[in-house]
Amino acid sequence: MTEPNGQNVQKLADYRPYPFVLTATRLHFALNPAATEVRAALSFSPRDADMPQDLVLDGGRGVELLSLTLDGEVPDPAHVIRRNETLTLSAAALPPHPFLLETTVRIDPSANTACEGLYISNGMFCTQCEAEGFRHITFYPDRPDVMATFHVTIDSDLPVLLSNGNPVGQSQGRAEWHDPWPKPSYLFALVAGELAAVSDSFTTRSGRRVALNVWVRPRDQDRAGFAMESLIKSMKWDEDVYGREYDLDVFNIVAVDDFNMGAMENKGLNIFNSKLVLASPDTATDGDYERIEAVIAHEYFHNWTGNRITCRDWFQLCLKEGLTVFRDQQFTSDMRSAAVKRIEDVQALRSRQFREDQGPLAHPPRPDRYEEINNFYTATVYEKGAEVIGMLKRLVGDDGYRRALDLYFDRHDGDAATIEDWLKVFEDATGRDLTQFKRWYTDAGTPRLTMAEDWQPGVAGGRLSLTFKQETPPTPGQPEKLPRVIPIAVGLIGPNGDEVAPTQVLEMTEASQSFIVEGLGARPVVSALRGFSAPVVLTRPMDDQTRAFLLAHDTDPFSRWEAGRDLALSALTAAAQGLAPGGDHVAAIGRLIADDAADPAFRALCLTLPGEEEIATRLFSEGKVPDPEAIHAAREAMALRMAETHQDLLSRLYDGMAVSGPYRPDAADAARRSLRNAVLALLTRIDGGERAEILFGIAGNMTERMAALIALLRRGRGQAELAALHDLFDGNRLVMDKWFAVQPMAALPAQAAPIARTLSQRADFDWKNPNRFRALLGGLAANHAGFHAADGSGYDFTAEWLLRMDPFNPQIAARMSAVFETWTRYDAGRRAKALAALERIAAADGLSRNTREMVSRMIA
Ligand code: ARG
Ligand code: ZN
Repeated sequence: MTEPNGQNVQKLADYRPYPFVLTATRLHFALNPAATEVRAALSFSPRDADMPQDLVLDGGRGVELLSLTLDGEVPDPAHVIRRNETLTLSAAALPPHPFLLETTVRIDPSANTACEGLYISNGMFCTQCEAEGFRHITFYPDRPDVMATFHVTIDSDLPVLLSNGNPVGQSQGRAEWHDPWPKPSYLFALVAGELAAVSDSFTTRSGRRVALNVWVRPRDQDRAGFAMESLIKSMKWDEDVYGREYDLDVFNIVAVDDFNMGAMENKGLNIFNSKLVLASPDTATDGDYERIEAVIAHEYFHNWTGNRITCRDWFQLCLKEGLTVFRDQQFTSDMRSAAVKRIEDVQALRSRQFREDQGPLAHPPRPDRYEEINNFYTATVYEKGAEVIGMLKRLVGDDGYRRALDLYFDRHDGDAATIEDWLKVFEDATGRDLTQFKRWYTDAGTPRLTMAEDWQPGVAGGRLSLTFKQETPPTPGQPEKLPRVIPIAVGLIGPNGDEVAPTQVLEMTEASQSFIVEGLGARPVVSALRGFSAPVVLTRPMDDQTRAFLLAHDTDPFSRWEAGRDLALSALTAAAQGLAPGGDHVAAIGRLIADDAADPAFRALCLTLPGEEEIATRLFSEGKVPDPEAIHAAREAMALRMAETHQDLLSRLYDGMAVSGPYRPDAADAARRSLRNAVLALLTRIDGGERAEILFGIAGNMTERMAALIALLRRGRGQAELAALHDLFDGNRLVMDKWFAVQPMAALPAQAAPIARTLSQRADFDWKNPNRFRALLGGLAANHAGFHAADGSGYDFTAEWLLRMDPFNPQIAARMSAVFETWTRYDAGRRAKALAALERIAAADGLSRNTREMVSRMIA
């Protein structure tokens, strides 16, 4: 489908089933870095023999066709049509019965810098096929609804040769793999290299023994143990909680250094960015450990939600991603603290997804059009997709959810399914009509919810009415929105601080709706949207005193944290506009962190002030133009005031929270370190950096080292520590990525872009490595006032590097370009500079489809 402007737009409404069934795929690889030959034997049968159709195969430009036969014969060349991105066999050449299509192609993995298809990372052959990478390996119906069994033979001198499924033959220079589970091409994987494994095994609940391997480069073996532990926990959890068992004899995980995303759920052969596998106390932080555990789980859980049941087309991406994120979130809550996990997830949702929903890149969890699908692996598809499932579960209850999921696995095992299929199992399992609920999938934008209270002491023993109104602002292509179903979890707290009504879920379906509670006696304080029961922005008239009351008494940990957050945000947004802050956030937080009975991780979350980006988002949602410098100054001033006001308490906490004994990455120890590090960030403002310098020197782990270094850098110090870190870890890519990232991130705003530029000129700025590139550009973008420097230096630097990256790795350039997505929020001067930078990118010759789509959406 070509639009008038010549752009290639894919539309959900245009979906048609593939006219052929592909039952079996046999592949043979003769691996060679610059000239790999791939032979494919594909067993097709026409879907409808009476309706002859052309057979269209996808195939990228780098795929060179060497030979093609149909049932062993060379077809008339007039019936074989090669276009830029396809190879077509005309209907006239095809028999009305099953046939075998065999091709041989040549590809050049050594020239593949895009990390898509078959490429080489550090001497290792590896693949990334989601979403449309397989077409760079051979000609194929590269779409998720075409599913076949795969038999793969790999010829190579490299010692370790892996593919999907079970090993069926291994001899000198050759390995054969068979995957009995029909799968789409995006789940294909191949790895070949000099690798070493950390191995273990898992016995499934029905007694099948599965061999487990985490493959890394030989000297990295001592950093792969935690990934293996995480895998075993994930396999057990999916059996216990979802009743899902693993279904092959082996499960392999491979770590690669050059990887566009986090990780990939290829059947039986997950491929991971090495930063999500390798961890040791001296190289990885607590945050890294938690993330590794979560991503190992995420990819493993895809075996059922993604692989056994896959997506019909890429518009349905959130069917597998939203559900799998939801499942990995549940897993982490079970492994660690549920309250802390929920708060962290909401923070991430607000900082990434709300931001996306507010700007030109807003789209629904299920988009209905795209030009480049790789641009839609977004916070909306993943994290909002998970929130939508959380709401469904809240609405149908835990039992209803369980029944619906059992039905889903039962009914759709082996299918390429849709969001409609997903909703239907909930309807059938629970009897609920989800027509209105579906808007959460099809509409973009974050609903604004307002709550008003009316208290009538003399009526019905004390009557409280809560009136909610919802409205969703327009988003690109969706000017008007209908009301959604919003589950609002509400609890009531009496004047003495006791809960008088436990959490109840109010179901809002109208644009405006009231809920009444009677017999209350005294007027309670309403704790609303407990647990963040819906991804909305809730506004309610509330004074800082009431916020402080909730911060002290709410029984719901999320709402308690939220009250403190609101208190901080109301003070910070006032200060950032030059207004006097009301209330006393600093005092309220002091009372909370002094509570030794509370979880240290929770206290750390309460102590950490909202980031500058979050303050900007809040101001913008209140209709104000955020001023990055004023926001930075306001936040700095409040942090200083917290440090000065609570100096004694903070010093005591700093000493008291020290963790003794060997480093352990578990939730309890990590919680103490997180509180201690949050305290350190404050104390470094008033102790001349003394504590941080000492900690950096004696820390036996990267968590504390990084916290100390960042605290110092934020104060314009830390040069000696930076140099020391470099000397200690020069040869460790992952630590050096951190070294590149923290410098622009923690720099004083005016220094951020200049520091990024200086770093970019270093010989060890290996920018073609996706992690290194992301470290530096992402580090700068994480410095709100630095990236949005009024002179445009942050924008210019970023645009320059996006242009440089685009011809090498369009996915990385396009995804990183989203750092500009908020540009329209700011003042005219900044807007002009950001627009000029975006226009420079748009004007580049030969810009990739990926980056062109992103930039044109942002400029539109
Ligand atoms: N399915 C993978 C995951 O979330 C993400 C792979 C996306 N890759 C890409 N190039 N778009 O687990
Ligand atoms: Zn995923």
